[in-house]
Amino acid sequence: MTAAGLRDSHGRVMKDLRVSITDRCNFRCLYCLPETEEAARFYRAKFDALRNPKPVALTPIRYEWKPKEHLLTYEEIERLVRIAAGLGVEKVRVTGGEPLLRHGVPELLVKLAAIAGIRDLAMTTNGFLFARHAEALRAAGLRRVSFSMDSLDPVNFKKMTGREGLAEVLAGIAQAKQLGFSPVKVNAVVIRGLNDHEIEALAAFAREHDLSLRFIEFMPLDSGHAWQKEMVVSGREILGRLRARFDLVPVDQSGNPAETARRWAFADGRGEVGIIAPVTEPFCGHCNRLRLTADGKLRTCLFSVEEHDLKPLLRGDATDDDIAAELVGLVAHKEAGHRIGRPISSSRRAR
Ligand code: 5AD
Ligand code: SF4
Repeated sequence: MTAAGLRDSHGRVMKDLRVSITDRCNFRCLYCLPETEEAARFYRAKFDALRNPKPVALTPIRYEWKPKEHLLTYEEIERLVRIAAGLGVEKVRVTGGEPLLRHGVPELLVKLAAIAGIRDLAMTTNGFLFARHAEALRAAGLRRVSFSMDSLDPVNFKKMTGREGLAEVLAGIAQAKQLGFSPVKVNAVVIRGLNDHEIEALAAFAREHDLSLRFIEFMPLDSGHAWQKEMVVSGREILGRLRARFDLVPVDQSGNPAETARRWAFADGRGEVGIIAPVTEPFCGHCNRLRLTADGKLRTCLFSVEEHDLKPLLRGDATDDDIAAELVGLVAHKEAGHRIGRPISSSRRAR
């Protein structure tokens, strides 16, 4: 236990740990795990097709998932989270890949919910498998859930995720509301030319179903290197579109400077919208997040090229204090911020 906690050289104190529990996914989102080489280069392919309208061969991409024995066990994750909680981490978000592809997630949640100091336990899911696990997740202590859903149009949904899964995701969201998860968040990554025409429809959906819809600027995290800055719809533009259509009132966020979304409530209804603009309005100065990959590597920034492998410590004879000291040392060197849009920014997947 260190009184100073996980403080970096820029004075930021880490409170929030995202834990990936698998690198696998049952979706093939264009911007994350595209199905084919052509999908990976979806924008360039689109422009090529306009110039040269011959059918292109679809070359499947084979992903090499991490071998199971490389993934941290639930016991190892629990131990790391307990050590991090001893250093001041209060919030844990379970992610993937798609976390619900891993067996026995409720078992892990029970362990994490019981850790002293963890005040907030959340999960991000693509929602496809959520409805069938919802009750068990709730019973295990999950209170907050974020769904990733970029489109409300089945054809566009399939284009973006590579799967026909919209009905299942909608059923998952409905089930989360019914079971009292609160808030129920929906994240939509906005990509120009793909789903930016759905901004208003997504907001209307949030208002109708009392959801927190988060519009996220498209970030260069993709394995397929599809990102181009022309495809980013800025937070400012998204807000302009929303305000033209809805009467929005700002939510008071003065109590929580580390919050990434600028939030707006509907003046005349339920639900809210938020805009997360990491590209055009970086919030690195308030960042209090750390990320743990499924195979036990710590990333002090989503965009950092470096990962720090904690598995040798967890599987060696390191004590909890040794691991705590390692975390303190790694956090001390957390980078000041990302360099998106600058000449040599690194492109990495968020897994
Ligand atoms: N840019 C913005 N958001 C992204 N996500 C995944 N890749 C990107 C990207 N390149 C989102 C997912 C999900 C959350 C975990 O991150 O849609 O909502
Ligand atoms: Fe799966 Fe999420 Fe990546 Fe889509 S963005 S492929 S749902 S991990």
